[in-house]
Amino acid sequence: MMENKDHLAARKPKNVMVLGGKTGLLGQSLCASLEKAGWTALPVGRDDVDLFDTDQMAAFLDRHEPDIICNTIAYTQVDKAEDEPEEAMRINKQFVAKLGRLAKPRHIWLVHYSTDFVFDGKSCEPYRPEDAVNPRSVYGKTKLAGENALRDLGLDQLSIIRTAWLFGPGRTNFVSKILSLAAQRDCLNVVHDQTGSPTYTPDLADHTVELLKVNGQGVFHLVNSGCASWCELASAAVQAMALQCDVHPISSDEYPQKALRPCYSVLNTESFTALTGVKPRPWLHGLREYVFCHIT
Ligand SMILES: NC(=O)c1ccc[n+]([C@@H]2O[C@H](COP(=O)([O-])OP(=O)(O)OC[C@H]3O[C@@H](n4cnc5c(N)ncnc54)[C@H](OP(=O)(O)O)[C@@H]3O)[C@@H](O)[C@H]2O)c1
Repeated sequence: MMENKDHLAARKPKNVMVLGGKTGLLGQSLCASLEKAGWTALPVGRDDVDLFDTDQMAAFLDRHEPDIICNTIAYTQVDKAEDEPEEAMRINKQFVAKLGRLAKPRHIWLVHYSTDFVFDGKSCEPYRPEDAVNPRSVYGKTKLAGENALRDLGLDQLSIIRTAWLFGPGRTNFVSKILSLAAQRDCLNVVHDQTGSPTYTPDLADHTVELLKVNGQGVFHLVNSGCASWCELASAAVQAMALQCDVHPISSDEYPQKALRPCYSVLNTESFTALTGVKPRPWLHGLREYVFCHIT
């Protein structure tokens, strides 16, 4: 009898506050997926509340009474973070810890996103959630500090979702930048010695909903299946769009960037599949959908 009640409660439509849901690359897709699932999404942006003012945030939460908060807000400029470590820490750790402290007494489920850049890239196999972390950049360190701050709070309603290499509708991203450059140039040089898990934000958003439906608690890796270098991802995008532009592979040394990046950061999603029964589709399918439905 009790089991049935719990089952029904888990299936009840949820009221989900999406921080970053108005302008963020992932946040916008997340709102769409939640609504598609029959849940209510409340997108929150800078103008709605001072996210860094604890009293304002507390009052905002008490007014809206969300069942779940999805935090997609982050300092995401990987190279700029090397020059602004304090600001990156303020958003990626301190704000996250504050959110955890506000969610805990209110029994709000917290979904927080993190990154493949918590790994150093020395592995030869896709990283599992329990693998050793060792970020190489300020961005990676601040994101890991955010994860740890939440774990230290001992929240029992917490999903930390590590994802990677996002592309999708609603905001400029690597693929959209490549396509606009390829439309203007005959040739593009793109790094070929970093390999990761390209991920389509509408897929990641749908998978987040699946994880929430089964109360997936803990750290999960959520990306599309397969892997690619930046050059392979760029080539596939140019090809899908049928643009006349050669994409040449180059090494990271030929394209120096301020922040160090892992040369291999493919993520293993098996624990997500074991819990939900859902297997993410290949990134190329997501890429084609993005190009055909959102670019052309
Ligand atoms: N993008 C990727 O390839 C990637 C890869 C791995 C992990 N992730 C993680 O996935 C999550 C979502 O990333 P995303 O690419 O969707 O991020 P995004 O597009 O850069 O969006 C970030 C959101 O945070 C908001 N924001 C940033 N600083 C803020 C501040 N000081 N005050 C209020 N709002 C602020 C932005 O608002 P404004 O638009 O107003 O600035 C925006 O809505 C993040 O946790 C990120 O670390 C992303």
